[in-house]
Amino acid sequence: MDIDPIELLGRRFVEAIVAAFGDEFADTDPLVRSAQNPQFGDFQSNVAMGLAKRVGRPPREVAKAILDHARLDDLCEQPEIAGPGFVNLRLRGDALPRLLTQLEHDLTRASSATPPADAPRVVVDLVGVNIAKQMHVGHLRSSIIGDSLCRVLSRVGDRVIPQNHLGDWGLQIAMVIASLRRRHVDLDSLDLDALEAAYRDANLECKADRQALETARRISAGAHRIAEWEAQVSGAEQRLEEAKSTLVRLQRGDAEIVAAWEKITAITLAACYEIYDLLDLTVTQEHNRGESFYRERLGPVVEEFISSGIAKESQGAIVVEIEGDETPLLIRKSDGGFLYATTDLAAIRYRVQELGAQRVIYVVDARQRDHFRKVFEAVRMIGWDRLPDGSRAELRHVPFGAVCGEDGKPLKTRSGDNVKLKDLLLEAIQRAGAIVREKNPELPAGEQQQVARAVGIGSVKYADLSTQLQKDYVFAWDRMLAFEGNTGAYLQNQYVRIRSIGRKAPDDVRSDAAFLIAAAEEKALALALLRYPGTLANVAQTLEPHRLCQYLYDLAGAFSVFYTQCPVLKAETKERRDARIRLARLTESILADGLGLLGIRTLERM
Ligand code: ARG
Repeated sequence: MDIDPIELLGRRFVEAIVAAFGDEFADTDPLVRSAQNPQFGDFQSNVAMGLAKRVGRPPREVAKAILDHARLDDLCEQPEIAGPGFVNLRLRGDALPRLLTQLEHDLTRASSATPPADAPRVVVDLVGVNIAKQMHVGHLRSSIIGDSLCRVLSRVGDRVIPQNHLGDWGLQIAMVIASLRRRHVDLDSLDLDALEAAYRDANLECKADRQALETARRISAGAHRIAEWEAQVSGAEQRLEEAKSTLVRLQRGDAEIVAAWEKITAITLAACYEIYDLLDLTVTQEHNRGESFYRERLGPVVEEFISSGIAKESQGAIVVEIEGDETPLLIRKSDGGFLYATTDLAAIRYRVQELGAQRVIYVVDARQRDHFRKVFEAVRMIGWDRLPDGSRAELRHVPFGAVCGEDGKPLKTRSGDNVKLKDLLLEAIQRAGAIVREKNPELPAGEQQQVARAVGIGSVKYADLSTQLQKDYVFAWDRMLAFEGNTGAYLQNQYVRIRSIGRKAPDDVRSDAAFLIAAAEEKALALALLRYPGTLANVAQTLEPHRLCQYLYDLAGAFSVFYTQCPVLKAETKERRDARIRLARLTESILADGLGLLGIRTLERM
């Protein structure tokens, strides 16, 4: 339901244009904008000028024809045609109060509603960590953005099904298991750090340095040097063979290997859940659908691609040619092994055909763009995106850029390792704690801790969500944790301030006092508030959370202007005071709601 006057008026204009000139004008942009000069009204439309040519009549006449067909009287005073054919619109005195009342009502209902059974189903693929490896900043964005999209989509009425496509199957993991077993590592005492070390070692052990051997031979490096490299290569080959046979055992369900696999999965996930918890993610264990989930489906996927004639053999491997693409999509290697892409094909089929998703959204690093483009195209070719009614599910990759250090390069620790997510988040909380202690030393220690957490995590999330997704962004503590500017802390602080106005309100304030919108600042705030539902719809459609951030920042700004210009608790009359308090409370609810949809906590004090 639209309640933004610009949207409402635009819709009415288009209806009138269609009624006046015919259906072929249904996609006309009504060009309703805020008036440049408030003297002439609140809004204006210049649509008649452009239409005049198309319909072959003078613009003023076109404007008149539109107004003759437009139903505007519930929203506007008598519109005026000015100059060559501008339409000036002035809102009726009761329009904004009525719309605000409705917004208030919708807001209380929406935040508690559960989607109806026939709501559109949307799968959001997020997090996607890999077993035996720690979650790192690369997974931070997928988690934060994915979680916020889940919240926004649920809010606009979708049935959201998060899916965590864990990397929990395949040769890499078999390598780790083989290496741990060879070294007789006691899995019961293993922790994530040791597991990660094993992952690194296993990768080194299995990596044959053939180039080094060839170079040594070419330059006749001496018999012992060559022998050393020969030993390295044959050792690595042997390790790789061991890993492959471990994988075969894992795939066959060998109890011992499966037990090891389960253990390392549990260790990785336990660490993940700690981070989910720190981040207040809505994803839980029940949303885990790792690569292992699809293992029995990979063979049939390839078989169907072959039998439908879409895939073909190429040098022993099975590939799908993608139109306009130089390299085909590989779905089975010549040694019979399956690939990352094969699993994604199986996953889409499952999501559309079994989970019933009308929309499948992949919140994954931009570097996987080609992968998804090809996989989606292959799915369309075989028709696994078909819904029961014959329409096609929307498959959408939401690519995001890298997180960089202050040197502009992808964020690393000083020793060159990936920054661990947990360390990063704990540092955010600790830094926020130091700021809070300085700004508000009276706060009891327990509350300080709570505030530090909300502000620290909120800042990290907001910095991430407020950047355009595809851009790389620089992780800069000072800017992220600033209390001024477009930051999480600024918005949390604005919320606290607005809330304290409500708290200071005397007991005789009527919560149902009529909205009185008179001053320009009141009007600007009211219009900003009314843009909220449209903003959410826009984010749900574009899948760009930065639009919500920008909205909340603008709203907080509109409130500041209002609050400096319009006395609230000291307003001239009681009616005016109560109306302004109601406006402040509505702002407060929308700020809290919007921050909530970004996954950011609000506080009573900070
Ligand atoms: N595990 C993958 C990685 O770390 C991400 C998984 C993304 N989801 C997917 N359906 N492919 O790169």
